[in-house]
Amino acid sequence: MFRDLENVMKILFLNGPNLNLLGTREPEIYGTETLADIEMAMKAVHPEVDIEFRQSNSEAELITWIGETRGTFDGIIINPAALTHTSLGLCDALKAVGDVVPAVEIHLSNTYTREEIRHKSLTAPACIGQIMGFQGFGYTLALRAIVQALKSS
Ligand code: DQA
Repeated sequence: MFRDLENVMKILFLNGPNLNLLGTREPEIYGTETLADIEMAMKAVHPEVDIEFRQSNSEAELITWIGETRGTFDGIIINPAALTHTSLGLCDALKAVGDVVPAVEIHLSNTYTREEIRHKSLTAPACIGQIMGFQGFGYTLALRAIVQALKSS
């Protein structure tokens, strides 16, 4: 069950390194939408849900933000970007709050079709599910999924 304080569900979107460059960054892989475009699209998916969108190139900042979600947010949607494949710290942070703040992992690209180093996610085991390969539309799918999961928990 979500926090239910004012009956408004709060979801935190976290975006890792280099995702601030979406739109011009390898568009054949990541698409042409900017992060601001994706954020705007999210408001229409579940207008009744309170959404906060953040991006950081700093692993430490992302870890701090995750640690602060207990009691503040109901769920996390995270694209850890390259940190997916390297950060045990992010995995630990997601596990530390996962008893009350479930997370969904999202990737724009299908990482399994790419270099082998991208086939392993250190963060996915700390998440309730993972969506990848649908570029910006994956964020819509992830939001629908986490809202559904929270409502039925
Ligand atoms: C990514 C995939 C990662 O391997 C890569 O480092 C990124 C973006 C994606 O959304 O497809 O920065 O997370």
